[in-house]
Amino acid sequence: MTVHFIGAGPGAPDLITLRGRDLIAASPVCLYAGSLVPEALLGHCPEGAQVVNTARMSLDEIIDVIAQADAAGHDIARLHSGDLSVWSAMGEQLRRLRALGIAYDVTPGVPSFAAAAAELGAELTLPGVAQSVVLTRTSGRATAMPEAEALENFARTGATLAIHLSVHVLDKVVTDLTPHYGADCPVAVVWRASWPDQRIVRATLATLQTAIGEEMERTALILVGHALESEDFGESRLYAGDYDRRFRPIGTAPRFPESAE
Ligand SMILES: C[S@@+](CC[C@H](N)C(=O)[O-])C[C@H]1O[C@@H](n2cnc3c(N)ncnc32)[C@H](O)[C@@H]1O
Repeated sequence: MTVHFIGAGPGAPDLITLRGRDLIAASPVCLYAGSLVPEALLGHCPEGAQVVNTARMSLDEIIDVIAQADAAGHDIARLHSGDLSVWSAMGEQLRRLRALGIAYDVTPGVPSFAAAAAELGAELTLPGVAQSVVLTRTSGRATAMPEAEALENFARTGATLAIHLSVHVLDKVVTDLTPHYGADCPVAVVWRASWPDQRIVRATLATLQTAIGEEMERTALILVGHALESEDFGESRLYAGDYDRRFRPIGTAPRFPESAE
């Protein structure tokens, strides 16, 4: 038996991979992180499946359910929101499973930063403006930030920032970032990207707090950077008419001559 860790995507039930959907359908046990995983995904579970919301469970209790299913020879679909490579608490579960000798695999999901960027219609890496995206957060009650990963340190790079788990400390985010990005730097806060009740506020670092007012719910992403609004960026050389490349050789002596095959 195998525990299938599956990225459930940001909220819209059709933003899951086909592989993830099929693994849910093939697993007689489904554990899901109830607060952020859309219930509609549970509709893919086979009839009679054991479906467990882990939102109120401890790690020990979760591993107990997995171990019992393993002993019964059942595959398990383990759903977490977005993608599993960031802030999913998957690492600690995998470590326990390795210790218990329980097999697992991982299926990626659409991360919330990508869903938010899609809703904004924004490319976060524009030539000459920003070529990096930093997925980060601020310290929370459960998790402290390593000192070197302070927001100001990332801000010094000018990269586009996707700040998770931080909408409740918006004033600190604005204070830390303004010296580096400038008060006129574009910001977007996207609540519950891709859910039916999604909300978006676009502002600048200077106007953000007024634009948002009292609306400070948890599931929101703060995107910051000049790439969010810029029209003044270069075009990618890859598609330039005179750019000689493997799939579009140019000129009489192309760098990658087409093979004779
Ligand atoms: C525990 S983390 C989970 C991140 C998730 N693994 C991912 O790939 O995005 C939860 C945080 O992710 C962000 N988040 C998750 N889903 C979101 C959504 N649909 N819209 C906006 N932000 C979201 C918020 O910052 C939230 O506080």
